[in-house]
Order: sequence, then C-alpha cells, then structure tokens
Amino acid sequence: MSVEHARITLEETRAAAGHSAFAADVRAGLAAERKALPCQYIYDARGSALFERICALEAYYPPRAEREILQRHGAEIVRELDAPCEVVELGSGSGEKTDLLLGALSERQGPVSYVPIDVSRSALEQSAQRMVGDHEELTIRALVGDYDSALASLTRDAHPRLFVWLGSSIGNLDRGQAARFLSKLPLRDRDQAFIGFDLRKERSVLERAYDDPEGVTRLFIMNVLERVNRQLGADFDLGAFEYVAHYDEDAGYVDMSLRSSGPQRVRIEQLDLDVELSAGELIHVENSYKYSPEEIESLAGVAGLRVERSWFDGGRRFCSVLLSRAD
Ligand code: AVI
Repeated sequence: MSVEHARITLEETRAAAGHSAFAADVRAGLAAERKALPCQYIYDARGSALFERICALEAYYPPRAEREILQRHGAEIVRELDAPCEVVELGSGSGEKTDLLLGALSERQGPVSYVPIDVSRSALEQSAQRMVGDHEELTIRALVGDYDSALASLTRDAHPRLFVWLGSSIGNLDRGQAARFLSKLPLRDRDQAFIGFDLRKERSVLERAYDDPEGVTRLFIMNVLERVNRQLGADFDLGAFEYVAHYDEDAGYVDMSLRSSGPQRVRIEQLDLDVELSAGELIHVENSYKYSPEEIESLAGVAGLRVERSWFDGGRRFCSVLLSRAD
C-alpha cells in the first residue's frame, strides 16, 4: 500500500535495527549470565497482531483506562496546551487513541499538523490514510524510523510542539532509562509532552493483566522465540518453556520471562551457536514498570521536566501527565 494524499507525506528517517543487529542482540542476550531476549524483537507482523489482541482483552486494562481519560478530559487537556501546536507522536501504531486528542485539538485550534513516528511503515501508511479521512483539518508528516533518528529529523519551526507518548510504553524502560529518554526529548521552551503511565496497583490485577486467562500474552512473549526460530534457524521447542509473569512489588515492575521446563540444548544455526539451558532457567523478555504519582513527579524532576497537570481514570489505574521543561 502506498500513501497518495495531498495532506500526507511519508519520510524514511533511518531503518530500525536490521537483521545483523537482531542476530548480535540474540547472541549477546543468550550468552549473558542472566539470559535475555530484548522485548523490541517481539514486534514482527505476528507480534504486532498479538499485541493488538492483548489490547482488546478484558484483563489488559491500560488501553481502556487511557481511552477513558482522553474521552472524559480531552477538551480540558487541550485547553492546557500552548496552541496552536504541532503534535509529534512516538510509536503511533494504529493512532486510534490519538484520534481523541486530535479531535479535541482541532476543535480548539482548527488545522492540526501531526507527525507520527513509528518503525512500521505499513502501520503509518494505514493509520495516516484513515486519519485524514476522519479529520478534515489534519495534515500528516509521517516519519518511519526509530525514535532517535526520527526526532533528529524534526524541523526547526518556531511553533510549539506537543510530544505524545501513549500506551504506557515508557513502562518498558527501566526507571533510569526512562529518565534518560525523557531528558533527551528535544523539548524547547514552549513545548510540552503528554505521556501515559500505568500506575502501581494490586498484584492480582497486574499478574492477570500480564498473564491473561486467554493465554494471548503468553503467545506474545513466546513470539520472540518463534522469531529466533524463523529468522535465525533455531530449534527452540516452545512446548519446553513455561511463561511466567511476576510482579516485583518493591521495585514496581512486572517481569515477563520464559522458564525452561527441563535441561535442554537449543541450536541456532545462523549463529553457529548451541545454547544450554538448565531446568528452571529463565530467559528474560520484558519488564513493565508501574508508577505512583510521586514516582512520576520525581522521574520528571530527574529528567529536568515538571508535571503541569495529571489526569486519572475513574479507577485510578492509569495516569496521563502533561510535562514541560523545568527551567
Ligand atoms: C507496549 N507495552 C506498554 C506493553 C506493556 O503493558 O508493558 C507491552 C505488553 N507486554 C505484555 N502485555 C503488554
């Protein structure tokens, strides 16, 4: 599918990690004392489709909670913005929740310039086509690439920008990485950032959200092994691994790992590598960090930002914050 629309432009910034980066990361991750496979590699076409299914699960509350905030408080949120502004969205995906924000913003300021950033060209093409159809006043400059290269290609226009990062994606970084990432966001004086955080809550709710009764999250996490099988000629036996989602309450994150049911040896042909796993040994795949409102404030402070306003859903499961530079 290609984009042909007067109000859409699409630019490649830099390709996301290619085959050789994947191979190097798999080798390094499986050689580490605590074996790990980075969660970014879950997201091939199958992984992305599984994530869409997760977002529709009753047990996985974050998308519903965040949508509730945008639906209830959209008008109030855009009143806090330095408008007219341009909206730059990190990891825009289907852009479905962003619609609510863009709709409210165009009510306030009229024409809106929207810059979605995503590693998936096809996701950007599809969402851009749909969004210009739904919003008459929208102009889209879609950037295909990783965050660093796409952010570096932003123009130096004088109008204020709103950086949007929804879905509590910040939770897949540890707290130090999250602070470094926020401090590197190219926020100028009048720019703001609107970011979704999943909040700390009871273990039972979290462990159910990340180990749902339908078993979709299990398939999603296991997809990283499937991908190593498919792309690197490995012979991981998925039936020989158990999926474990554990909430570390003190540190405030859900750890998603795969536990080897017994001793086993896995061959990865394209790496010419044999990996030994002992019974019970874990391969770590993903963490999902949860925040208290105080932790969000202090994260912002460490990153040189300040929280201007926060909005919560009715069940106080999720928090959307508006940030600006502290100085
Ligand atoms: C993308 N990210 C915010 C999800 C999360 O909640 O950490 C990824 C996910 N992993 C399992 N379920 C959802």
